[in-house]
Amino acid sequence: MSAKWSVTFEKNSIKRNFWQRSALGTCLCLALAATANAEVTVSDFGKTADGVTVKQFTLKNAKGVIVKLISRGATLSEWHVPDKTGKVDDVVFGYDNIAGYESGTSYFGCTTGRVANRIAGAKFTLDGKEYKLAANDGPNTLHGGVKRSLDKVVWEGKPTASGNGVEFTYTSPDLEEGFPGELKIKTTYTLNDEGALRIDYEATTNKTTPVNICNHAYFNLAGAGSPTINDHEIKILADRYTPVDDVLIPTGQLAPVAGTPFDFRDFHKIGERVAQLNDKPGKGYDHNYVLNSQNGSLALAAQVREPRSGRMLSVLTTEPGIQFYGGNFLNGANGKGGKTYAHRSGFCLETQHYPNSVNTPSFPNTVLKPGETYKHTVVYQITAQ
Ligand code: GLA
Repeated sequence: MSAKWSVTFEKNSIKRNFWQRSALGTCLCLALAATANAEVTVSDFGKTADGVTVKQFTLKNAKGVIVKLISRGATLSEWHVPDKTGKVDDVVFGYDNIAGYESGTSYFGCTTGRVANRIAGAKFTLDGKEYKLAANDGPNTLHGGVKRSLDKVVWEGKPTASGNGVEFTYTSPDLEEGFPGELKIKTTYTLNDEGALRIDYEATTNKTTPVNICNHAYFNLAGAGSPTINDHEIKILADRYTPVDDVLIPTGQLAPVAGTPFDFRDFHKIGERVAQLNDKPGKGYDHNYVLNSQNGSLALAAQVREPRSGRMLSVLTTEPGIQFYGGNFLNGANGKGGKTYAHRSGFCLETQHYPNSVNTPSFPNTVLKPGETYKHTVVYQITAQ
């Protein structure tokens, strides 16, 4: 049995068969229709340095879009999508082999966690007990730790019953990377015929623990390996952002974007004002935006368009924040197919809770308790016109 997602945008619709209402009075409408042509193929991608086999899953939709996922890090490794003329390019960063992923330090396409982004001072206190983590970003913990963060472990993967997706599962034992509780995690990718890749995260724990999981795909909509993202135009549906200190920890303030280079309430080229941030913390865009939609429904968060290819990425999420990272730490590393990834040649839109939430009581809660289920949905949709 297989099925496909069919998604349409309807203005001011009051229908109820949709994922959820988004901002701007637009609805992302969903209908499930049976089809015979959705397919997932499974192959071996290679072995880790420890000898564990990594599987590769290939998803295809009816329009010729191909998405590849690998079980190390439940990672989005390839996304081949036509431009406005029909020319197909792979628009996400990755490596040709496991050794590339193992030696890489940029988190290409991975599932990031248990706690994505930064935890100040590599520690937090829960129920009166202090937990110490490994510091891997100056004094802070970045993206879940050092050896067994979610991007580095090999997940179990299998095609979903619907036939157009892959479900990855991983059980992180108590105190892995210092985090309390056995955490059972599910990451499900689903591709539809309208070019939308939906990712659903779920997690449960047997001890109180912080959770903040996201995807860390890098995009260049002109094709991964293109020299810059400066000409990409971005819009982020956020009136505020979280300013940071010298080591990229939020100060706790929710500051207005108005009158700053962070104002993307209307489309601006990424390169238009980035030089104003060259000597500031992050050395460019590397900031969490406070999304206007804060009620947990699936809502439009950001859009990016690339004028020459005509491709446009829309990002919808249930999360309250989005980290806009402009590839400031990319340094020309080698990627897939002989391509190199230059400084600021890719961007990430990481839907998540705000950085260092576990140490910032005024931010939306990231603490998961036994009996509760962590849920997070993100949709990345690429169209071309
Ligand atoms: C995140 C961080 C950046 C950087 C990248 C990975 O987006 O916010 O500072 O660490 O991951 O290189």
